[in-house]
Amino acid sequence: MNPWEEINLSDYENHMKLESVYQLQALNKMMWGQLNDYDVSSVLILGVAGGNGLNHVDRDKINVVYGVDINEDYLKICKERYPVLEDLFVPIRADITNEFCELPKADIVIADLFVEYVGCEIFASTIRKIKPKYVSVIIQVNEDDGFVSDSPYMAELKKLEKVHFCIDEKETTLSMKKIDYNLSYRTEENLPNGKKLIRLDYCFNLKD
Ligand SMILES: C[S@@+](CC[C@H](N)C(=O)[O-])C[C@H]1O[C@@H](n2cnc3c(N)ncnc32)[C@H](O)[C@@H]1O
Repeated sequence: MNPWEEINLSDYENHMKLESVYQLQALNKMMWGQLNDYDVSSVLILGVAGGNGLNHVDRDKINVVYGVDINEDYLKICKERYPVLEDLFVPIRADITNEFCELPKADIVIADLFVEYVGCEIFASTIRKIKPKYVSVIIQVNEDDGFVSDSPYMAELKKLEKVHFCIDEKETTLSMKKIDYNLSYRTEENLPNGKKLIRLDYCFNLKD
């Protein structure tokens, strides 16, 4: 079983929103741009977790939001949290490391702190299946050691070590380039504990 299926959403989110971690808040702010910077009507979010950022979905523009996650309970919580998106939000329980996993097409794929749990290769092969025009990824860069910041939830979150990949910006961009997605936008957000979040957007067939 993938350890993500054993982690309570409250443990994950309580850790992520600690003042010393501040990642849930930073991701929420960055998701505004990911959801609104492009002229798109269908969105697919890989690793949607508890639906952080879904509050920024513009119903006048977006017709469908697919939320993909391996943890069925997280998807149920997303549905409960966003009754206003009832007709737009389509939860999809899937393990994208499974080569037979099928996903719908979408104009944009958003994947925040997700590539770290599947690796660049599987991520790129998933993007090839979905064939979006845009891909917007957020990765975490550590200036200290350890990918989980110290907190009361650390013991629980340590379980994730066995599925965690150390991802860097260059490797991500290279693996996207191999499938004809070129970097079109980059921005970063500093976090309180010497870490930072980097947003990398890619566009299909964009000439360099
Ligand atoms: C770090 S969390 C994502 C955080 C979230 N995007 C946010 O903004 O708060 C990673 C998510 O990816 C999901 N996940 C991890 N491995 C997966 C896989 N192989 N297939 C599908 N979902 C997976 C986890 O269940 C978890 O919800």
